Amino acid sequence: MATEILIPHKAIRARVQELARQISSDYAGKEPVLIGILNGVVFFFADLVMAMSIPCKIDFIRAASYGSGMNSSGNIKLVKDIEIPVGGKDVLVVEDIVDTGLTLNHIVRALEARGPLSVKVCALIDKKERREKKVTIDYCGFEVEEGFLVGYGLDYDEQYRYLPDICVLK
Ligand code: IMP
Repeated sequence: MATEILIPHKAIRARVQELARQISSDYAGKEPVLIGILNGVVFFFADLVMAMSIPCKIDFIRAASYGSGMNSSGNIKLVKDIEIPVGGKDVLVVEDIVDTGLTLNHIVRALEARGPLSVKVCALIDKKERREKKVTIDYCGFEVEEGFLVGYGLDYDEQYRYLPDICVLK
């Protein structure tokens, strides 16, 4: 399949720096736990955390949605849980792309049930086209209306994650 660059790496880098600055300022004096949703988030997560100027802890969570093809079924299960206890902590969930919102909604609710002080969300891409669950994205990198995106960690069938740019799959 062909790919076409939508967001060049340079623009991603600049936006990630801005997000990191904003987050560092909002959480000044605190030590949030940043929780990355595997696998697509890895490059974004690493770049974001390294660009921040405040201390933080990091952990990862992974959810699987049992549906067909590119569609999320809504039947979501946690297949890898975090290891840091988040009770009484400020939690920032970091996601690569929010599509239907089902995954993020499930994860945020699961984390809220553990008594954190706060739970906020940072997503690199907010793709509104197929939103089913309302989710609040406190820090958003880019808004995209439609299309299937790959690169900078995002995959199609485990391909294209390695591309430095965010591309549209043609
Ligand atoms: P949601 O539960 O429908 O919001 O789906 C979120 C997950 O679906 C993301 O974490 C991605 O793994 C995957 N996903 C949704 N849209 C895309 C896309 O355009 N490219 C790559 N993965 C996507």
